[in-house]
Amino acid sequence: MSSLLSVRDLRVDYETPAGPARAVSGVSFDLARGEFLAIVGESGCGKSTMLFAIAQLLTYPASQVGGTVTFEGVDLTTLRPEELRQHRWRDFSVVMQSAMNALNPTMSIGAQLADVCRAHTDWDAARITQRCAEVLAMVSIDPAHLKSYPFQLSGGMRQRAMIAMALLLEPKLVIMDEPTSALDVVAQRSLMRQVQALREQLGFSVLFVTHDMSVVSHFSDRLAVMYAGEVVEMGSTRAVFDDPQHPYSHGLMDAFPSLLGAPRVLTGIAGNPPSLVNPPGGCLFAARCAQVMDVCRSVHPELLEEDGRTVRCHLFHPVAS
Ligand SMILES: Nc1ncnc2c1ncn2[C@@H]1O[C@H](COP(=O)(O)OP(=O)(O)OP(=O)(O)O)[C@@H](O)[C@H]1O
Ligand SMILES: [Mg+2]
Repeated sequence: MSSLLSVRDLRVDYETPAGPARAVSGVSFDLARGEFLAIVGESGCGKSTMLFAIAQLLTYPASQVGGTVTFEGVDLTTLRPEELRQHRWRDFSVVMQSAMNALNPTMSIGAQLADVCRAHTDWDAARITQRCAEVLAMVSIDPAHLKSYPFQLSGGMRQRAMIAMALLLEPKLVIMDEPTSALDVVAQRSLMRQVQALREQLGFSVLFVTHDMSVVSHFSDRLAVMYAGEVVEMGSTRAVFDDPQHPYSHGLMDAFPSLLGAPRVLTGIAGNPPSLVNPPGGCLFAARCAQVMDVCRSVHPELLEEDGRTVRCHLFHPVAS
């Protein structure tokens, strides 16, 4: 698998009265074609901000202060808005956390889908209508709903309509920020199965933020754990689940009931993330870490790699090959 997306040393600050808050600091990873990468981490750790930065959708008070986002060899951070428009929807699309509210309440679903087609293709009216009906059918919505307005659809259908819109022009990458969080468990599962089937059929890559570890374990190839704006661990989903190396990943996994293993006591992680305006000098997790050492309070750990797994922790000592 060759790399579709390559993120290097991505940095995003929010301007605040107290100074810049480093919401994303030095994130790097590659996403292969067809790969599903899940991103997890507690609320406020920078997941949505990172996705917005990758999609080049940041707005004030957020701004990218460093790094590159290379999509098929093109650094998106250097493109003008008009050039970016060529890539959005066609090459990559975004289903955001607030997708429920992202549909225009005054336009029918069909009109909204057709707008995207008209803005990004030279298709004629017949082809547009056909394609719009086709994508709705893909997410199991009857094409009769092309005429429906968002308020006439259930929450789950609106969410699926957003996913249909994201797939309209067969992008190579679909970025999703908790697309199922507003749905009940049954609807969540059914939507995820549809996304998975479509991915197998169409071959797109997925960058997926979720709080739901069972979604992660069932659907993602790789897993990135974020803490306070940094990736602290990344590796195959199986490896990170079965044998988390970073104490924070360990805590996160412990906070979720195991689906297969023996019942575990849900411990969670005591304490709060550090200030992003004046972050501590050493490891950002040191103040909450049960295995903290002296070095953790003074030296910021590097992200080290072994066997396709990367970990940012002084406890992790990959064997030099
Ligand atoms: N407008 C803003 N001004 C200042 N700081 C902000 C602003 N928006 C977000 N932040 C800060 O940026 C950090 C990252 O926020 P972000 O929304 O990316 O987190 P998240 O991981 O997506 O959280 P959640 O799981 O709750 O969606 C947070 O600590 C937040 O306080
Ligand atoms: Mg978020």
